[in-house]
Amino acid sequence: MNDKILFPLYDKGEQVNTPPQESQAATPSHARRVYIETYGCQMNVSDSELMAGILTQNGHQTVSQLDDADVVLVNTCAIRENAETKVINRLIQLNHRKRRQPDMIIGVCGCMAQHLRDKLLDAAPYVDLVMGPDAYRDLPVALDSLARGVESHVSMTDRDPFVGLRLDKSEDYADIAPIRKEGIRAWLTIQRGCDKMCTFCIVPFVRGRERSLPLKLLVEDVEKLVDQGFKEVVLLGQTVNSYHDNAADFGDLLYAVGDVNGLERVRFTSPHPADATDSMIDAMASSPSVCKHLHLPLQSGSTEVLERMRRTYTAEEYRDLVSKLRERIPDIAITTDVIVGFCGETEEEFMETYKMMADIRYDSAFMFKYSEREGTLAHKAFPDDVPETVKGERLERIIGLQEKISAGINTATVGDTVPVLVEGESRRDADNYHGKTDGFKTAVFPKADSKIGEVVNVRVDTTTAHTLIGQIV
Ligand code: SAH
Ligand code: F3S
Repeated sequence: MNDKILFPLYDKGEQVNTPPQESQAATPSHARRVYIETYGCQMNVSDSELMAGILTQNGHQTVSQLDDADVVLVNTCAIRENAETKVINRLIQLNHRKRRQPDMIIGVCGCMAQHLRDKLLDAAPYVDLVMGPDAYRDLPVALDSLARGVESHVSMTDRDPFVGLRLDKSEDYADIAPIRKEGIRAWLTIQRGCDKMCTFCIVPFVRGRERSLPLKLLVEDVEKLVDQGFKEVVLLGQTVNSYHDNAADFGDLLYAVGDVNGLERVRFTSPHPADATDSMIDAMASSPSVCKHLHLPLQSGSTEVLERMRRTYTAEEYRDLVSKLRERIPDIAITTDVIVGFCGETEEEFMETYKMMADIRYDSAFMFKYSEREGTLAHKAFPDDVPETVKGERLERIIGLQEKISAGINTATVGDTVPVLVEGESRRDADNYHGKTDGFKTAVFPKADSKIGEVVNVRVDTTTAHTLIGQIV
């Protein structure tokens, strides 16, 4: 499966560390060294940057090694069962460590904290802190109160955990400055929560109602990011294109951010097909810094399944949208998300998805087996009745199809010259750089005289299903 890039909003299963940061405020009496471990989607990475901001503003310090920490916060993902299993296993490991270091505070933050509060505390009673995505402002208070417990010598196992799980529609963290790793690409949350209620999805239950940040503030944030040296900004939201601020919509935001001086590229993830307005398409077609790449989750190619999923569009409407996008923006790259084996999915319905993928020819796709989530509408309304083996076999079929399509699309670029934003040294070869094309394909090429952060023209010599290999011309 193509899960190498950490881009759409879901679990890649990899863990990303927040950069260490000295405290900027006066040191509180219980200043702590906090290690933040992040699972799941880009929104979680962005939330970890926010947590780091909140903690340092309050005199704590984030560290990049678990060995240097007295607090570990695990920022979790609940989107599929395997994401939750991964976190439980990690907590078991951390508990072994806690036996050697009894004062260590273990916190579980994010979507799984919100989803599984009771189960989590049953399975992992040694957890000291459980905090959902709208409660991060309380982190300093929580650490202070836990630290007082340590001083009063109440054994960690005898203390109640600190629980912050209130969902708060007014919480947008607009006043918090996140702490980001230096680099070329910055992620900027423009919207929190989701109002769509797709029947398979846990997100609306763990992240609460949709809310957008003010446009003026976001433009200022982007200006600051440019001053800090970032060349590309990725706007984040669960249905990012339903963004609105009074009369301004997502297209207006794209234009406004695209106009920021010194910013090379703007991307966004993930839009919902039902909110793909002309205003968004216009901005993508005409603002030079807005990348011509759209991650447009399909989920299923069958109108019946889409209805059970409550996606609010039909297969025909989706096809029409793709035709319109390709008419308006001929060189657009389109990527997607697909779920196989959703409740009641027949072989015929699955084949409609297969055919849709074959017809549309996505540049790449993230493909999943349906994973039932307790509390969702599908969990209440439909039996999870497609056998695991059938789910697995359907997944294999579309993965095989997509690999061929991706490889074919990449092969067709051989001989082309494409602009690439240089991001860093290639992991495999220190003489090479890697970067992304406008359509978010990875390109690898000899450094020549280029520098990180520059846009260079790369002529494509060879390709794989996932990479363009070439040289600067
Ligand atoms: N709107 C979000 C979607 C978050 S979930 C975004 O911006 O990306 C990311 C993807 O995970 C979804 O598009 C869907 O394909 C998949 N997914 C969500 N819930 C799932 C479930 N219960 N089982 C399997 N895949 C799921
Ligand atoms: Fe989930 Fe559908 Fe929202 S996939 S995040 S409920 S748009």
